Parts: sequence; C-alpha cells; structure tokens
Amino acid sequence: MIEIDNLHVRFDSDKGIVHAVRGVTISVAPGEFYTLLGPSGCGKTTTLRCLAGLETPSGGSISIGDVVVHDTDRNISIPTYRRDIGMVFQSYAIWPHLTVFENVAFPLREMKPKPKETEIERRVKNALELVQLSGYESRPAPFLSGGQQQRLALARAIVREATVVLFDEPLSNLDAKLRAETRLELRRLVKRLGMTALYVTHDQTEALTMADRVAIMRDGEIAQEATPTEIYKRPVSRFVASFIGQCNFADGEVLSVPTADTPGQMNTEWGRLSYSEGLDHTVGDKVTIAVRPENVWLAGKGIDDVATSITGEVSEIIFLGESLECRVTLGDSNLITRLHPSSEVAVGDSVGIIVKPNDVAILAA
Ligand SMILES: Nc1ncnc2c1ncn2[C@@H]1O[C@H](COP(=O)(O)OP(=O)(O)OP(=O)(O)O)[C@@H](O)[C@H]1O
Ligand SMILES: [Mg+2]
Repeated sequence: MIEIDNLHVRFDSDKGIVHAVRGVTISVAPGEFYTLLGPSGCGKTTTLRCLAGLETPSGGSISIGDVVVHDTDRNISIPTYRRDIGMVFQSYAIWPHLTVFENVAFPLREMKPKPKETEIERRVKNALELVQLSGYESRPAPFLSGGQQQRLALARAIVREATVVLFDEPLSNLDAKLRAETRLELRRLVKRLGMTALYVTHDQTEALTMADRVAIMRDGEIAQEATPTEIYKRPVSRFVASFIGQCNFADGEVLSVPTADTPGQMNTEWGRLSYSEGLDHTVGDKVTIAVRPENVWLAGKGIDDVATSITGEVSEIIFLGESLECRVTLGDSNLITRLHPSSEVAVGDSVGIIVKPNDVAILAA
C-alpha cells in the first residue's frame, strides 16, 4: 500500500547540507498500522512530509496504492492534493476561526474537483460520528477540550475517505491519562475504517501499544524494523535496546552454542549464563548481550529455586509503586532487576541471580 524505496532528503541550511533521511526503505501492507519511532531529529517528520508531498526528496521513490507519487530518477512528483492520503500533524492545527463543521469540511473544499455541497455534508457528518463529535457541528473549534480538538483533527484526516492516513505525533498535546485512552481508541478507529496508517512518534509506549510493526530510526536511517514484541525481545543493537525500555548490557564470550534441546553457554561479566537463541555465533566469539530488568530474577524470590552460579549484593532499592527496582552489584558491574513490590529484599542481601536462557538477547552491534 505504501512503498518507500531508498529515500534520501538533503536540506540546504546555513550550517551546510543536512542529510536528514539516508536511504529509508519501508513497505506498509494494506490495513497495517506502521510506526516510525526515534529520537528528536532522526528524520521521522521529514519522511512523512515526503509521503504527503510537502517535501521534495533528493533521491528515491514513493508509491501509495498503485500510484507512483514520487520518483527522483524518473522525475515524477504528484502534488499533495492528488495523493490519496489524510494527515494529522504534530501540532494538529485546527483553524480557530472556523466551526467544527467547517474545520472538517476544509480538506473537501480543497479537493479538485470539489465534491457537491450535499456530499460534503454527508462526509463531514459521517466523520464526526466516527470520532464521536456529532452535535458539535456549529461550535467554534477553540471551544472544544484538548481531547475533542484531537478528535476533530482526526475527523479532518479521515473525511477524504483516503486509504492512507499519516500521523505525526498526534497525541503529543494531550495529558498522560487522555493520551493513554486516546491511543487505543485511535488504533481501533483506524482498524475499523480499514485504513493504512503511518504513525510517527518518539514515545516508545505509543509505538509498542499501537503498531503492528515498528521501525526504529536513528540519524536518518532505520536501525531495526519488526513487530513490537520482536523489537522488545530481540533488539539488534544497544541503541534499539535502550531506546525501547530499560536494559542491562554485558560483554560475554561464547563457550558452547545452543542445539535443538540444550541451551548454549557463555561467560559474561556477571558470570556464566545459558542462552537459547541468537545470531550465528561460534565458540570463542565475543558478544554483547542485553537482558531486560523484569527478566532478571533473584533466586528464591518469585521464582522456583534454580541453581545459579551468579551471586551479587543488593546495593539499592527504589520503590516505583507497581514494582521495586533493585540494583545488584556483582564485582565491578551492576544489574538492575524489577521485582514485585511485595518481594522481601533488603539492601545488603546476598542474592543469586537467575536469567532464563530465552531472555538473553545477543546484539549484532
Ligand atoms: N527545512 C529544513 N531545513 C534544514 N534542516 C531541516 C529542515 N527540516 C528538518 N531539518 C533537519 O532534518 C533533521 C530531521 O528533522 P525531522 O523534523 O524530520 O526530525 P524528527 O525525527 O521529526 O524530530 P522530532 O521528534 O523532534 O519531531 C533534523 O536535523 C532537522 O534539523
Ligand atoms: Mg517531527
């Protein structure tokens, strides 16, 4: 549905050329909810603006549905208004001087040819109903709450009944609670309408909870693309692992490789660990591993007693409400573990560390 192939964007700025997007290739399936996640300045908005036709790529091609909307080599560039897309921007920019109805009608009035007035009315009513804003048609847009304004922006994005909708941090202006409610509502709505969504965010929770697939961007490139579960469980790099949630890292050396029924073994700076999955490695390889805090267990605390050769000392406990974050010192290194708040553990305790083989991720970079 959306095909971006080897996209490059260069900006001429007073500080010289900024190469904002460096060879991004993305393929989004019909009906898929696809998220671009990455730190500020990594090129998310620029990529989205290229899709919308608001930015001119310096290389690569873009297709939406069966239509090639941009191809640098073939000198093809279709204007924004002829692209089959709806958009919700970072600052969702509703027009304060217009009513709710006119805000939603605006994209239709911009279309060429313009739909008939009865058709505009039908589509606006339909869009407002979908976002649960029926009855607000004649209200001036500024007299809506933050959440309602966000839904208004959404109605405006879907009113064209386009097959593709682009979101650029549409929830960033909402408070935390409303944001949590709205992200699921938004995903359900997009799915119900059968739209294909490309959603940009720097919020990892948003990406994990909303997306069918996530691409993590860094410095204009895609660092990893996978399902939220895969990204979380099998990050390929330190950057991806630490951008999504918290992670413990350790250097290690492979002692034996896993087979179908026995895990492999490695020596790490924490001690000896079993592991079951990883990239192709051989005995003697130096590796970096990542283990999530919730996958570090203290022997006898919430896990059945399992023999472990790794021991350490609890050096800090932080109460986080729904969990305890506990720092364990092992010689020169540290490990963070997340425990149930009822866990009986105290600073100074000597503890055994258990990590299940399947929870050890070997990083590629
Ligand atoms: N018109 C422009 N002229 C020069 N540089 C630009 C222009 N637009 C964007 N950039 C630069 O391109 C890079 C990518 O910007 P972009 O807006 O795509 O980042 P982003 O990932 O959306 O970040 P954020 O999360 O802060 O919105 C940044 O270094 C930015 O400064
Ligand atoms: Mg941006």
